Amino acid sequence: MAWELNNNCIEWIKNNIEKGSSVLEFGSGPGSTPHIGRDYDLYSIEENPDYVNVHSDSTYLYSPLIEDAGYWYDIDLVNQFIEGKSFSCILVDGPAADPSAPCPRCGVYDYLKSGKLKLNTECVWIFDDTDRSWDVDLAKKMSELLGRKLESFSDYSIINV
Ligand SMILES: C[S@@+](CC[C@H](N)C(=O)[O-])C[C@H]1O[C@@H](n2cnc3c(N)ncnc32)[C@H](O)[C@@H]1O
Repeated sequence: MAWELNNNCIEWIKNNIEKGSSVLEFGSGPGSTPHIGRDYDLYSIEENPDYVNVHSDSTYLYSPLIEDAGYWYDIDLVNQFIEGKSFSCILVDGPAADPSAPCPRCGVYDYLKSGKLKLNTECVWIFDDTDRSWDVDLAKKMSELLGRKLESFSDYSIINV
């Protein structure tokens, strides 16, 4: 389905990210979680309780979306979940688009910029759905924030290490 992570992106991950290393995904689902979880130590952050712990190969965090945070995840729950972990790759494929949110996935950028999100950014970043304007804008802003080049493919974009 169109909202699932593209198979070419999964192949890119398998060819470029060390097997067995830790991967963090924002937004779980059948396109990414079982495929990445098979070969990596996967952590999935998910806002919909119906989709939490659906795939056995990932460690999930259920976090509701917080209206005051632009309908992004609960920053305190996210920080507790990732504390002490470092990731070789971060996949930004959630939260799902909410009509109330002008940029549903921008929380990751806003919280990093303000220093509230305690995430080591020295890893590969992948943004899905960058055929959509607000997702490509987010990927570009993140590339500027990290000072690293953005490579764009059909419907996903990568900031390499
Ligand atoms: C853009 S989708 C992508 C999810 C995932 N990375 C993938 O590639 O399948 C984002 C949201 O879809 C929702 N989702 C997960 N599994 C689903 C399913 N089987 N059917 C419909 N929505 C689902 C979740 O709330 C998830 O955060």
